[in-house]
Amino acid sequence: MQEGFMFSALNDKEIEIVVGAMEEKIFHKAEYIIKQGEEGNVLYVVDSGELDCFKNYGKGDIFLKTYYPGESFGELALLFQSPRAASIKVKSDKAILWQLDRETFNLIVKEASIKKRQQFETFLENWDLLKEIKDPYDKLKMSDALFDKQFKKGDIILQSGSKSNEIFIIESGRVSVLKNNQKIFELCKLGEYFGDQSIVTNQIETFTYVAEEDIKLMYIPKKSYSSTLKEIQSTLMNNIQIKYGKYL
Ligand code: CMP
Repeated sequence: MQEGFMFSALNDKEIEIVVGAMEEKIFHKAEYIIKQGEEGNVLYVVDSGELDCFKNYGKGDIFLKTYYPGESFGELALLFQSPRAASIKVKSDKAILWQLDRETFNLIVKEASIKKRQQFETFLENWDLLKEIKDPYDKLKMSDALFDKQFKKGDIILQSGSKSNEIFIIESGRVSVLKNNQKIFELCKLGEYFGDQSIVTNQIETFTYVAEEDIKLMYIPKKSYSSTLKEIQSTLMNNIQIKYGKYL
């Protein structure tokens, strides 16, 4: 359930309350869970099955994405008191969903989620890496998968030869990039990132990353990669060549 990004800002106690309030619902192939334009009072977390999301911008439905187990949808109507912004339909033979009511959502999830989206909104809107992602919704949704982490001067953040569990992004401070214990360059600009090499290519990391001073990083957990950055995988691959090619 923690993968349901909506809930990433909650503590254990809050998650327990949310889980207790959820109701299991079973749907079948081609059934609409949500219809664009209608009023909505619940959000859903996928337990099993697959669902397709479509949006009508005025000229008929356009396919946007498929939802898989662990993902959630239907939060916008609850966050902004707005009509459903897209339609969602069962793709697999059957889908089991967990449904969360508006009251529990308002009480427990809404404020934490809005806060988290606001915290990262400006950064995500301006992060150069995401310029190919056109839909503002996809960027906003990414904030649910972003976290903060602080490191002390001298901390080894990521060791060469390992596989990273996170894609780290510079928020503030300097990170040294080392090969064979030699510093080869430094990352210090907002939005520069690392830890992507092993996640994107599934190989081991070539470099070691060390905090040059007390620093603040953002990170996207590896398990969130496929639902956040995978759609720009070819850009990430190109960037690996540009960033590291001459040192490999
Ligand atoms: P809601 O508007 O409540 O109902 C439809 C859901 O589709 C919406 O919440 C989001 O969870 C989801 N969705 C997925 N992609 C988009 C998108 N591009 N724009 C709006 N909603 C989207």
